[in-house]
Amino acid sequence: MNRTTIGYTILIVLFIIAVGFFFYFYQQVQVYDKKLKEATSTDVPLSTYHFVLIGEEVDHEYWRLVSEGAKKAEATYGVIVEYEGPKRSNPEEQLKLLDMAIKSKVDGIIVQALNEQFTPLINGAVTNGIPVITVDTDAPGSLRDAYIGTDNYQAGFLAGKALIEDTNGKATVGIITGGTGQAYQQHQLRVQGFKDAVDKVEGINIVAIAESNLKRVNAEAKAYKMLTEHEEISAFYGTSSLDGMGVVAAAKTLKRQDNLYVITFDTVEGNIQLLKNGDIDAIVEQEPFEMGEKSIAIMLDIIKGKTVNDIYQTNSSIIRKADLPTEKNSEGGSPHD
Ligand code: BGC
Repeated sequence: MNRTTIGYTILIVLFIIAVGFFFYFYQQVQVYDKKLKEATSTDVPLSTYHFVLIGEEVDHEYWRLVSEGAKKAEATYGVIVEYEGPKRSNPEEQLKLLDMAIKSKVDGIIVQALNEQFTPLINGAVTNGIPVITVDTDAPGSLRDAYIGTDNYQAGFLAGKALIEDTNGKATVGIITGGTGQAYQQHQLRVQGFKDAVDKVEGINIVAIAESNLKRVNAEAKAYKMLTEHEEISAFYGTSSLDGMGVVAAAKTLKRQDNLYVITFDTVEGNIQLLKNGDIDAIVEQEPFEMGEKSIAIMLDIIKGKTVNDIYQTNSSIIRKADLPTEKNSEGGSPHD
């Protein structure tokens, strides 16, 4: 091999090494670039988002459905949703949970705004950059980013229309409601909607209204008192999940359940059983699962700076025994579970 050949061979080898280095570094630059883009992207990986959902009563069937909806969205979007609430309905404790969520600087809060005391805390969270969605019960005067839940006035109106239809426009009505004070704005709306629906029907008269404070035993005691004081009562309207069950228990004790019309809120298991037995005649069904699921999607839109609606209304409808699917009729589950 002469010197020229050796020279060419060295050159070719060097060329191949250079090309190899070029491709190697080119690839490294591409990888680095990709990593840099990911790190500086405004689309922060979703798994870093940590949201808190605060309901009225952590183990209540209705609130468990809200949390199950949120948990489904948690899996879909790869976010973390912490579900919290008092053991028993307790607005003070709920406010403390809200305060703690704000202090721990979570990425978003979904809260049932039970009463006006929630407004200053919600406003504090939003002005400090934590988006807030109210769920099930709104705080319309607050700075919350959006509300998702039932139109409670409309749901009450639907209940009134169902009662008119089912009683052929003739009924003497007792109302058992969660509460009438400012702590129960949602129930006030449900009562107002109902009253407005039956108002112009001559044969329908509301003769009494009492508060259950969302407790079944209170609903029973109040219904018992009403039934003894008003022999003429032929129908009851309950505005919270447990009111209908309390009414039925009182009516059974007084042997007044026959020919007594009962309409109440929420397709929780106890109400479905009574609907099947014929002790409850109609239920106003809400969509708690959907409230929970959608609230997470809306929260992510807010964080990404998308324009969101002020109010997202979930459906409410009337369920009667005939609406229960046949197999559920014999098993006793919720018509929509
Ligand atoms: C209401 C919720 C309440 C639940 C349990 C539902 O009808 O929409 O606000 O927490 O009943 O009482």
